[in-house]
Amino acid sequence: MKPIIIANWKCNPTTIKEARKLFGSVCKNVKKSKAEVVFCPPFIYFSIFSLKLPNNIKIGAQNCYFEKAGAFTGEVSASELSDLKCKYVIIGHSERRKYFSENDLTVNKKIASVLDNKMIPILCIGESQEQRDRGSVQDILNIQLREGLRNIAGPKIKNNLLIAYEPIWAIGTGRPCDIEESQKMRLLIKKILSNLYNQNMANNVGVLYGGSVNSANASDYVKEAGFEGLLVGGASIKSQEFSQIVKNSV
Ligand code: PGA
Repeated sequence: MKPIIIANWKCNPTTIKEARKLFGSVCKNVKKSKAEVVFCPPFIYFSIFSLKLPNNIKIGAQNCYFEKAGAFTGEVSASELSDLKCKYVIIGHSERRKYFSENDLTVNKKIASVLDNKMIPILCIGESQEQRDRGSVQDILNIQLREGLRNIAGPKIKNNLLIAYEPIWAIGTGRPCDIEESQKMRLLIKKILSNLYNQNMANNVGVLYGGSVNSANASDYVKEAGFEGLLVGGASIKSQEFSQIVKNSV
């Protein structure tokens, strides 16, 4: 499987001119890469990506709403996204859980609607520092996966789901998860998935790492720890650094 490198631009950059420039320069550097590179810009910049893109470059969203359409001011639905060239949707990012009151129930509804609209959800899970200190990492990941995927049938997610392991304490802190520890977490996630579904299904679901990824540690997560890809935040809005992450991951 070729690595999938996701650029989560979050609420950046502040002008469409900068967004065009950032996309243009990264695109030039990575268009021949063997990695699949996914740009997740703020919705307002989606038009930049409406031109024909190189085969290995795809577009993703940072969030979506689970209802199809209607009186939901400020929301963008999965169905609306699927009408654009959106292939992936990040669901349940810890910043959404923290600042926008997302929980496992809304995450579950969003996962279902993304799948119904033939896109691939990237389900973000991960523990806080406090939960890690308490020794409850396994329970947290178990609950987030079980509830996030509740009533989602196995055949539906086969080759159509990515899980991003993003320990909250590693996001935006410059304190990435130890490679060996991240490898354990990847195996734990696979084990939970195999309990929820079966081994074959668990093998089919790609697990990404996210949290202070940079060009110096990217290859270790993919080549040593075995992650199927990376979810990159801060470094994804620096064109040289992000291009180097993509290069180092293959
Ligand atoms: P970071 O963010 O790379 O800035 O740590 C990762 C994320 O939030 O997905």
